[in-house]
Amino acid sequence: MLKIAVLVSGGGTNLQAIIDAIADGTITNTKIEVVVSSNPRAYALERAMNAGIDTVCISPKSYTDRRGFHQALTEYLLQRNVDLIVLAGFMVVIPEILIRSFRNRIINIHPSLIPSFCGKGYYGIHVHEAALARGVKISGATVHFVDEGTDTGPIIMQKAVEVLADDTPETLQKRIMEQAEWKILPCVINLIAHDRVSVRDNKVRISKD
Ligand code: GRF
Repeated sequence: MLKIAVLVSGGGTNLQAIIDAIADGTITNTKIEVVVSSNPRAYALERAMNAGIDTVCISPKSYTDRRGFHQALTEYLLQRNVDLIVLAGFMVVIPEILIRSFRNRIINIHPSLIPSFCGKGYYGIHVHEAALARGVKISGATVHFVDEGTDTGPIIMQKAVEVLADDTPETLQKRIMEQAEWKILPCVINLIAHDRVSVRDNKVRISKD
Protein backbone atom coordinates (compact mmCIF):
# COMPACT_ATOMS: atom_id res chain seq x y z
CA MET A 1 0.00 0.00 0.00
CA LEU A 2 1.48 3.34 -1.11
CA LYS A 3 1.37 5.80 1.79
CA ILE A 4 1.17 9.38 0.54
CA ALA A 5 1.34 12.82 2.10
CA VAL A 6 -0.44 15.57 0.19
CA LEU A 7 1.01 19.06 0.74
CA VAL A 8 -1.36 21.99 0.22
CA SER A 9 -1.72 25.71 0.87
CA GLY A 10 -5.07 26.70 -0.62
CA GLY A 11 -8.36 25.49 -2.03
CA GLY A 12 -7.39 21.88 -2.46
CA THR A 13 -9.29 20.92 -5.62
CA ASN A 14 -6.41 18.65 -6.64
CA LEU A 15 -6.49 17.08 -3.17
CA GLN A 16 -10.23 16.54 -3.69
CA ALA A 17 -9.56 14.88 -7.04
CA ILE A 18 -7.18 12.44 -5.29
CA ILE A 19 -9.68 11.76 -2.47
CA ASP A 20 -12.45 11.11 -5.03
CA ALA A 21 -10.22 8.91 -7.18
CA ILE A 22 -9.37 6.72 -4.19
CA ALA A 23 -13.05 6.54 -3.24
CA ASP A 24 -14.21 5.52 -6.72
CA GLY A 25 -11.36 3.07 -7.35
CA THR A 26 -9.52 5.09 -10.02
CA ILE A 27 -6.57 5.00 -7.61
CA THR A 28 -5.97 1.71 -5.84
CA ASN A 29 -3.35 0.42 -3.40
CA THR A 30 -2.99 3.93 -1.96
CA LYS A 31 -3.70 5.64 1.34
CA ILE A 32 -3.50 9.36 2.10
CA GLU A 33 -1.58 9.16 5.36
CA VAL A 34 -1.74 12.88 6.08
CA VAL A 35 -2.52 16.25 4.51
CA VAL A 36 0.07 18.88 5.41
CA SER A 37 -0.84 22.55 4.98
CA SER A 38 1.47 25.54 5.16
CA ASN A 39 -1.57 27.71 5.81
CA PRO A 40 -3.91 27.18 8.79
CA ARG A 41 -6.86 28.68 6.86
CA ALA A 42 -6.51 26.54 3.73
CA TYR A 43 -9.88 25.14 2.63
CA ALA A 44 -7.96 22.00 1.68
CA LEU A 45 -7.77 21.18 5.41
CA GLU A 46 -11.54 21.09 5.58
CA ARG A 47 -11.71 18.78 2.58
CA ALA A 48 -9.26 16.42 4.29
CA MET A 49 -11.15 16.48 7.58
CA ASN A 50 -14.45 15.80 5.77
CA ALA A 51 -12.82 12.71 4.29
CA GLY A 52 -11.53 11.59 7.70
CA ILE A 53 -7.89 12.18 6.79
CA ASP A 54 -5.28 13.19 9.32
CA THR A 55 -4.20 16.85 8.95
CA VAL A 56 -1.39 18.99 10.23
CA CYS A 57 -0.40 22.62 9.68
CA ILE A 58 3.31 23.31 9.42
CA SER A 59 3.59 27.02 8.70
CA PRO A 60 6.82 28.92 8.01
CA LYS A 61 5.35 31.67 10.21
CA SER A 62 5.65 29.46 13.30
CA TYR A 63 9.44 29.31 13.00
CA THR A 64 12.02 32.01 13.64
CA ASP A 65 13.95 31.12 10.48
CA ARG A 66 13.54 29.16 7.26
CA ARG A 67 15.96 26.49 8.43
CA GLY A 68 13.77 25.61 11.41
CA PHE A 69 10.73 25.32 9.17
CA HIS A 70 12.57 23.17 6.62
CA GLN A 71 13.82 20.85 9.32
CA ALA A 72 10.41 20.52 10.97
CA LEU A 73 8.71 19.74 7.66
CA THR A 74 11.32 17.16 6.65
CA GLU A 75 11.42 15.49 10.05
CA TYR A 76 7.64 15.29 10.19
CA LEU A 77 7.39 13.60 6.78
CA LEU A 78 10.23 11.18 7.57
CA GLN A 79 8.63 10.31 10.88
CA ARG A 80 5.26 9.65 9.18
CA ASN A 81 7.13 7.18 7.01
CA VAL A 82 5.39 8.17 3.77
CA ASP A 83 6.39 6.62 0.43
CA LEU A 84 5.39 9.57 -1.76
CA ILE A 85 4.92 13.30 -1.26
CA VAL A 86 2.36 14.97 -3.53
CA LEU A 87 2.60 18.74 -3.92
CA ALA A 88 -0.91 19.91 -4.74
CA GLY A 89 -0.78 23.70 -4.68
CA PHE A 90 1.88 23.89 -1.95
CA MET A 91 3.05 27.52 -2.07
CA VAL A 92 6.39 26.94 -0.41
CA VAL A 93 9.79 26.38 -2.05
CA ILE A 94 10.77 22.79 -1.29
CA PRO A 95 13.98 22.67 0.75
CA GLU A 96 16.97 20.68 -0.51
CA ILE A 97 17.03 18.61 2.66
CA LEU A 98 13.53 17.34 1.84
CA ILE A 99 14.43 16.67 -1.81
CA ARG A 100 17.52 14.70 -0.75
CA SER A 101 15.51 12.71 1.80
CA PHE A 102 12.82 11.85 -0.79
CA ARG A 103 14.74 11.63 -4.09
CA ASN A 104 12.27 10.89 -6.92
CA ARG A 105 9.55 10.44 -4.33
CA ILE A 106 8.10 13.97 -4.53
CA ILE A 107 5.72 14.88 -7.36
CA ASN A 108 4.26 18.24 -8.30
CA ILE A 109 1.38 19.35 -10.52
CA HIS A 110 2.14 22.43 -12.62
CA PRO A 111 -0.57 24.19 -14.70
CA SER A 112 1.29 24.44 -18.02
CA LEU A 113 3.09 22.22 -20.49
CA ILE A 114 6.65 22.32 -19.08
CA PRO A 115 9.08 23.75 -20.28
CA SER A 116 6.64 26.52 -21.22
CA PHE A 117 5.54 28.98 -18.54
CA CYS A 118 7.40 27.43 -15.63
CA GLY A 119 10.21 28.29 -13.26
CA LYS A 120 10.56 31.28 -10.98
CA GLY A 121 7.50 33.53 -10.83
CA TYR A 122 5.26 31.13 -12.76
CA TYR A 123 2.68 30.04 -10.23
CA GLY A 124 -1.08 30.32 -9.85
CA ILE A 125 -2.90 32.69 -12.17
CA HIS A 126 0.43 34.15 -13.46
CA VAL A 127 1.02 30.99 -15.48
CA HIS A 128 -2.22 31.50 -17.40
CA GLU A 129 -1.68 35.26 -17.80
CA ALA A 130 1.68 34.51 -19.42
CA ALA A 131 0.22 31.84 -21.70
CA LEU A 132 -2.50 34.24 -22.93
CA ALA A 133 0.00 37.10 -23.31
CA ARG A 134 2.15 34.87 -25.55
CA GLY A 135 -0.89 33.83 -27.54
CA VAL A 136 -0.37 30.07 -27.35
CA LYS A 137 -3.18 27.96 -28.78
CA ILE A 138 -2.52 25.00 -26.51
CA SER A 139 -1.63 24.89 -22.84
CA GLY A 140 -2.16 22.16 -20.26
CA ALA A 141 -0.69 20.60 -17.16
CA THR A 142 2.38 18.61 -16.17
CA VAL A 143 3.10 16.18 -13.36
CA HIS A 144 6.82 15.93 -12.66
CA PHE A 145 9.26 14.74 -10.04
CA VAL A 146 10.72 17.51 -7.92
CA ASP A 147 14.45 18.13 -8.03
CA GLU A 148 16.57 21.03 -6.78
CA GLY A 149 15.46 23.38 -9.61
CA THR A 150 12.11 25.09 -10.05
CA ASP A 151 9.90 22.88 -12.26
CA THR A 152 13.01 21.17 -13.71
CA GLY A 153 12.55 17.58 -12.50
CA PRO A 154 11.77 14.58 -14.73
CA ILE A 155 8.40 14.88 -16.48
CA ILE A 156 6.00 12.03 -15.71
CA MET A 157 2.81 12.97 -17.55
CA GLN A 158 1.36 15.90 -19.49
CA LYS A 159 -2.06 16.70 -20.89
CA ALA A 160 -2.80 19.39 -23.44
CA VAL A 161 -5.81 21.72 -23.24
CA GLU A 162 -7.03 24.01 -25.99
CA VAL A 163 -6.83 27.76 -25.42
CA LEU A 164 -10.01 29.48 -26.65
CA ALA A 165 -10.13 32.88 -28.35
CA ASP A 166 -12.17 34.46 -25.56
CA ASP A 167 -10.28 32.91 -22.64
CA THR A 168 -9.40 34.98 -19.60
CA PRO A 169 -6.67 33.76 -17.22
CA GLU A 170 -9.46 32.55 -14.93
CA THR A 171 -11.40 30.57 -17.56
CA LEU A 172 -8.19 29.00 -18.85
CA GLN A 173 -7.12 28.09 -15.30
CA LYS A 174 -10.48 26.43 -14.64
CA ARG A 175 -10.46 24.44 -17.89
CA ILE A 176 -6.89 23.25 -17.31
CA MET A 177 -7.83 22.08 -13.83
CA GLU A 178 -10.95 20.25 -15.00
CA GLN A 179 -9.56 18.73 -18.19
CA ALA A 180 -5.96 18.08 -17.18
CA GLU A 181 -4.87 18.53 -13.55
CA TRP A 182 -7.65 16.56 -11.86
CA LYS A 183 -7.07 13.71 -14.31
CA ILE A 184 -3.32 13.33 -14.61
CA LEU A 185 -2.43 13.78 -10.93
CA PRO A 186 -4.60 10.84 -9.77
CA CYS A 187 -3.46 8.84 -12.80
CA VAL A 188 0.23 9.29 -11.92
CA ILE A 189 -0.35 8.41 -8.26
CA ASN A 190 -2.05 5.19 -9.34
CA LEU A 191 0.86 4.34 -11.67
CA ILE A 192 3.36 4.91 -8.84
CA ALA A 193 1.20 2.82 -6.49
CA HIS A 194 1.55 -0.02 -8.97
CA ASP A 195 5.30 0.44 -9.36
CA ARG A 196 5.06 1.41 -13.00
CA VAL A 197 7.09 4.63 -12.93
CA SER A 198 10.88 4.60 -13.10
CA VAL A 199 13.51 7.28 -13.70
CA ARG A 200 16.68 6.79 -15.74
CA ASP A 201 19.01 9.52 -17.02
CA ASN A 202 16.53 12.07 -15.75
CA LYS A 203 13.77 10.66 -17.94
CA VAL A 204 10.65 8.84 -16.83
CA ARG A 205 9.60 5.50 -18.20
CA ILE A 206 6.11 4.15 -17.58
CA SER A 207 5.95 0.38 -17.85
CA LYS A 208 2.98 -1.53 -19.25
CA ASP A 209 0.83 -3.32 -16.69
C1 GRF B 1 -3.18 24.21 -9.21
O1 GRF B 1 -3.43 25.04 -10.29
C2 GRF B 1 -1.86 23.51 -9.37
O2 GRF B 1 -1.54 23.26 -10.69
C3 GRF B 1 -0.91 24.51 -8.79
O3 GRF B 1 -1.59 25.10 -7.71
C4 GRF B 1 -3.00 25.01 -7.92
C5 GRF B 1 -3.61 24.37 -6.72
O4 GRF B 1 -5.00 24.40 -6.76
N1 GRF B 1 0.34 23.88 -8.44
P1 GRF B 1 -5.85 23.57 -5.70
O5 GRF B 1 -5.46 24.04 -4.30
O6 GRF B 1 -5.54 22.11 -5.89
O7 GRF B 1 -7.28 23.87 -6.00
